[in-house]
Amino acid sequence: MEVRVDGKVAIVTGASRGIGEATAAELLGAGAAGVVITSRREANITEAAERLGQPDRVMARVARADSVEDADATVAAAIERFGSCDILVNNAGTNPSAGSLADVDLGAVEKTWAVNQLGPLLWARACWGGYMSRHGGSIVNVASVGGLRPGPFIGAYNISKAAVVHTTRQLAHEFAPGVRVNAVAPSVVRTHLARALWEGIEEQVGATHPLGRIGEPEDVARAIVFLASDAASWITGVILPVDGGVTGAAAATSLGA
Ligand SMILES: NC(=O)c1ccc[n+]([C@@H]2O[C@H](COP(=O)([O-])OP(=O)(O)OC[C@H]3O[C@@H](n4cnc5c(N)ncnc54)[C@H](OP(=O)(O)O)[C@@H]3O)[C@@H](O)[C@H]2O)c1
Repeated sequence: MEVRVDGKVAIVTGASRGIGEATAAELLGAGAAGVVITSRREANITEAAERLGQPDRVMARVARADSVEDADATVAAAIERFGSCDILVNNAGTNPSAGSLADVDLGAVEKTWAVNQLGPLLWARACWGGYMSRHGGSIVNVASVGGLRPGPFIGAYNISKAAVVHTTRQLAHEFAPGVRVNAVAPSVVRTHLARALWEGIEEQVGATHPLGRIGEPEDVARAIVFLASDAASWITGVILPVDGGVTGAAAATSLGA
């Protein structure tokens, strides 16, 4: 069965590059009637729209992930331009807060949590109130394997992604049966955000994944489109690891115990 989203209108936050841009491209390829892409910087999001082509089906908007006003205005703009708002992909994410929790800069933590943790709730509320509570819809949040288990260096980020995991389940409970809410939890993917985790060490990092490589943005984008589509019509509240097997197929220790 081919995964299709024919006639649907989607909003993808943080779509000026990386997983968000790849998701917008996959949605267009799967037949979306309209895709609204957002990011903070006008030049970035305009260039992404140009790369995607299809000006009839793509709208670029400057919108901050942590802004209620921007979320509400983007939903209204999607409906005005394309007539509906059927799919939300809460993809925008940031990580200015590297360091141990004992001494990580608290301003950076606040920013990380505002964008990564509060953001998905704001955009889900905007879609729910502006369209989905009356017409149905599907929301996919981008969490992380770091939200499923602890790890070094990026604890504040990991906490924000654990919140995305539970926000997904809570919203899936509250928005059922009309709106499905799911999440993907990627491991290391070849994007700007994760550059420090793979650049120059790609082979070693790839080797820690049972499938033998780091992820590409399209690996995650295809899973997002599946969860957003009617092919997943009886799936809600699920966190799907898209991680080359690190969650489900890796040995507990290097000795296999
Ligand atoms: N790459 C990985 O290894 C990995 C692993 C697990 C989870 N993730 C998650 O995947 C999602 C996408 O990240 P990515 O890896 O594709 O990173 P990326 O290539 O750096 O893309 C991040 C996107 O978010 C936008 N953005 C950043 N802050 C924003 C804000 N405050 N408001 C609106 N847009 C904002 C950026 O655009 P502008 O700069 O133009 O605003 C950009 O389009 C994030 O939620 C990330 O946490 C990534």
